[in-house]
Amino acid sequence: MSEETLDFSNGEFKQLLNQSSELVLRQFENIHNQKGYNDHPQKEVEQWFDEELPEEGLDPSKLLDEVETKVLNTATGNLGPHMYAYVMSGGNQMAIIAEKLANTINQNQTKWHLAPAMNEIEKRVIRWTAQMLGFPMDSGGVLVSGGSAANLTGLTVGRNVFFEKEGIRKTGLFGMKPFVVYASEEVHSCVDKSVELLGIGTNHLRKITTNASFQIDLEKLENQIKVDLAQGLQPFCIIGNAGTVNTGAIDDLESLSKLAKQYDMWFHVDGAYGALAALLDDLKLEYKGMELADSIAIDFHKWLYQPFEGGCTLVRNWDNLRRTYYKKAAYLDTELANDGNRLEYNEHYFQLSRNAKAFKVWMSIKAYGMKRLRAMIQKDIDLTDYLNEQVKKSEDFELVADSKLAVSCFRYVGNMESKEEIVQFNRLLMPELEKDGRVFIMGTQLKGDYAIRACFINHRKSEETTDYLLQVIREVAEKMIVQKKQLIA
Ligand SMILES: Cc1ncc(COP(=O)(O)O)c(C=O)c1O
Repeated sequence: MSEETLDFSNGEFKQLLNQSSELVLRQFENIHNQKGYNDHPQKEVEQWFDEELPEEGLDPSKLLDEVETKVLNTATGNLGPHMYAYVMSGGNQMAIIAEKLANTINQNQTKWHLAPAMNEIEKRVIRWTAQMLGFPMDSGGVLVSGGSAANLTGLTVGRNVFFEKEGIRKTGLFGMKPFVVYASEEVHSCVDKSVELLGIGTNHLRKITTNASFQIDLEKLENQIKVDLAQGLQPFCIIGNAGTVNTGAIDDLESLSKLAKQYDMWFHVDGAYGALAALLDDLKLEYKGMELADSIAIDFHKWLYQPFEGGCTLVRNWDNLRRTYYKKAAYLDTELANDGNRLEYNEHYFQLSRNAKAFKVWMSIKAYGMKRLRAMIQKDIDLTDYLNEQVKKSEDFELVADSKLAVSCFRYVGNMESKEEIVQFNRLLMPELEKDGRVFIMGTQLKGDYAIRACFINHRKSEETTDYLLQVIREVAEKMIVQKKQLIA
């Protein structure tokens, strides 16, 4: 390593790159047997990293060895097929390569001339995303960190454009009459955070109850809008779910868009989990009306199998982003160099410095093609249907909620009879499954009752790994029952 810079010699760098590639390859060697979770106690993990600030550098090859044992080999099994919790996709190999290349050239995705190719790639990914969702081809958009940021961005654009006449960017919310956001009770909690961050306050977020399919109740929604109007409040925005996190429910987006129009409101769609399943011909109709949204949140690190992080907000035109974020600053002014065709991302988004998130999306789409990506989404859905069938066929599980997407909610019932006992047992089952670690799965609350929730969003799953999920849950549950009996005896 030279003393003048932080660079290694070409030979050393090549050796380290090769060594790191070996680490990557070893992660894939035995991927089908990768545990869902490695149950190391928190204190132990903390202790692995308990060291003083290093004054001298470590032999980088030894550092890579340390990384392999402490970080890579202990990682939660997002890559492998045994992860079912939250919405964790398995990433993809082309994106691993893309991330390495993007980090090599270290482009700042802000002013056009700081990253000409990357800026045009981001614009292209926005255009392709608009095409996937049936949005206008000249839609504006921006790559953001994930679904939470994508919802916040969509709602920020909504707020700033909707209340532009009131001068909201200058005066803030002072002196304005309270305005109200509407969504179903199944809406993701990141929307609550956005509503708080935007100064609207969760007292003005109306969570409307859902029907038996967990879709927003349209009649109750309209009644609530009328009540709020009568009380002198201003209805501002309806948020439709294009795939809820709990059950994958898709609201009646067409009716929501009509209501938003009728009451002169902004229409935002949270498609972080489910919007990309609209690519499937069989499901297209379920999403009717999504293409009419004023803004939509999408997550590429969910159903486009990207590694974290990568989300996207689409709005109907670039000007909406500019009206929300544009700020002039002498040190950022590129007006003279710009012939009008360069899109300056710093004028269309909150961040100034940004990494090139669109690059891995672009490389993945080009490498795999949409046909293959669609097939992977379909496979996730087919495997969820397969799980539902196995649950229904079994004598010791019950299906609680299925979905048109790839989430299944079920419970282990064993020989238990009362619902109370079953619900309580399933709650206690979760920490035991975490200790076991062969699969990683979590639960949720559906209309007040606990259920196990399995989300399929990994192209490395199969019927065999799905059978394994039920087998592991059954084994851990039976072990708990035996232990309970021993305690009583
Ligand atoms: C429907 C929905 N919206 C928003 C989010 C938040 O996305 P992120 O975790 O990328 O911030 C999620 C995450 O699971 C989600 O399922």
